Amino acid sequence: MHHLTSVIKLVFLGGIFILLCSCESPEDLTKEYPFPSDNQPSAEKIELGRALFFDKRLSLDESIACADCHNPAYAFTDRKTVSEGIQGKHAERNAPTLLNSAFLQTVMFDAHLKTLELQVIVPIQEATEMGHNMKLLIPKLRAVPAYQKAAKILFNRDFDAWVLTRSIAAFERSLLSLNSPYDQFMRGNKRAMTSDQRAGMKLFNALYCTTCHPAPYFTNFKAENNGLYTDYGNDKGRFRINLDSADIGFFKTPTLRNIELTYPYMHDGSLKTLDEVIGHYLAGGKHPKGQHPSILPFQLTTKEKKHLVSFLGALTDTSYLKNFQSYAP
Ligand code: HEC
Ligand code: HEC
Repeated sequence: MHHLTSVIKLVFLGGIFILLCSCESPEDLTKEYPFPSDNQPSAEKIELGRALFFDKRLSLDESIACADCHNPAYAFTDRKTVSEGIQGKHAERNAPTLLNSAFLQTVMFDAHLKTLELQVIVPIQEATEMGHNMKLLIPKLRAVPAYQKAAKILFNRDFDAWVLTRSIAAFERSLLSLNSPYDQFMRGNKRAMTSDQRAGMKLFNALYCTTCHPAPYFTNFKAENNGLYTDYGNDKGRFRINLDSADIGFFKTPTLRNIELTYPYMHDGSLKTLDEVIGHYLAGGKHPKGQHPSILPFQLTTKEKKHLVSFLGALTDTSYLKNFQSYAP
């Protein structure tokens, strides 16, 4: 009897906990992410960054905003094989999610940039993306009264590259998605995941996936070679940074959070579905030089494949969308 009452209490406490969690506002969560000492977040700074993120004037012909390739409705991706920039030009790669980017230890598929602040200028100046030039862009944005006013109030300076990069990075860090069924399950709500999802989680942990996609962010943040191609062709990954042949085929491990929303997959969007991705690993990769030794062939029944895909679906949390009403899918 004694044992039974304590079980009831636990369940009850669990109930209260879940209640508290569902009341939690995004503001409460923003306190928990890391940020550089020279870019303390504030609601106003995030708001300025948000306005700039959705502003098509950041591209040369005013046709494309960051949000066109990083669309909130698709977990801040674009569902294209490779992204499309100004004048229908094709970017080289598939757009990654920006959710939980506050936790990134390295930025870009080449894992070569240290901060989100450093990344902002890259797409703006990339000919196949926004095709702009900071020398022309800064005076143009400074002439927008709301931007110049915010720069003065928040940064005590004229609108410049510092203001642009700090505010957009602050906005990106505020994009949190950490309340998936998986997270609720791990916090003790055993009903948050279905039995298929729980079975899939066992498989995910028993296979070698966690070597590179460990919880809680489902990435080790490192560049790895997952054996996608025998010959990587034009895009040899991190190799292009230092021209070191040991880096051929190395790409930063993407997070698996919200993965069911961010298809197609891989740096070049070459795999369309999660079934195709699992097929790649089942075969043990294509064995290029440098392929990680953990990636070996394995077998799964049709049912087990379904469980694994179900588990990946338990990593979806679209609660962030309430801040992006007009973008809801
Ligand atoms: C034309 C489409 C396009 C536009 C516009 C664009 N991006 Fe991207 N973004 C991409 C692609 C493609 C990548 C992957 C590039 C790579 O890793 O080599 C990327 C990568 C990123 C990353 C790295 C994420 C990670 O996991 O490492 C961040 C951050 C980012 N973009 C933010 C922005 C911001 C901020 C803007 C606007 C100033 C922007 N992007 C505009 C397509 C775009
Ligand atoms: C050696 C490290 C490593 C291991 C082990 C590994 N992955 Fe990956 N995974 C990667 C890398 C690196 C990429 C991105 C490759 C690219 O873009 O070309 C990736 C991409 C993915 C993607 C697509 C992500 C996206 O946004 O495009 C999925 C899904 C995935 N892996 C699932 C798994 C599963 C399931 C397992 C276990 C069966 C696994 N991975 C094992 C490194 C690894």
